[in-house]
Amino acid sequence: MSERTLVLLKPDAVRRGLIGEVVGRIENKADWAVTALELRTLERSALEQHYAEHVGKPFYEPLVEFMASGPSVVMVVEGERVIEGVRALAGPTDPIAAPPGSIRGDFGTIVRENLIHASDSAESAERELKIFFPDFI
Ligand code: RTP
Ligand code: MG
Repeated sequence: MSERTLVLLKPDAVRRGLIGEVVGRIENKADWAVTALELRTLERSALEQHYAEHVGKPFYEPLVEFMASGPSVVMVVEGERVIEGVRALAGPTDPIAAPPGSIRGDFGTIVRENLIHASDSAESAERELKIFFPDFI
């Protein structure tokens, strides 16, 4: 079933020059399309909404600071089972535990600086797309 998801290439991915590598992996999947894409330094207010589920956790404040520390790529990706699919390309949260072949497994070492965010369910995708692309139909 065709779906859409919010993908963020986090500031570490942009700083390290990995935009092309990561966007390429997404574009290479059959029948997926990038339908919106912008390089943008994320506002704290948007990040607070985005990461509301993590308020109060020890990693919350450093996470928000990191995410506001430089430009991210914000993208909408559409296609067949894309919500589950981009999560699978990304791999588990901890890049050391993430398998080689996944984006986090191939490029990351630090849990916070794990390169990519992708919505984890249809409900999350709709909620998150509204935060970062309020005018997107
Ligand atoms: P994301 O939301 O960014 O796609 O990642 P996720 O679902 O795999 O991970 P989640 O549990 O939602 O955590 C959100 C982001 O917070 C950072 N984090 N740091 N213990 C830590 O230092 C820690 N735990 C999580 C990561 O950047 C994670 O992606
Ligand atoms: Mg998450």
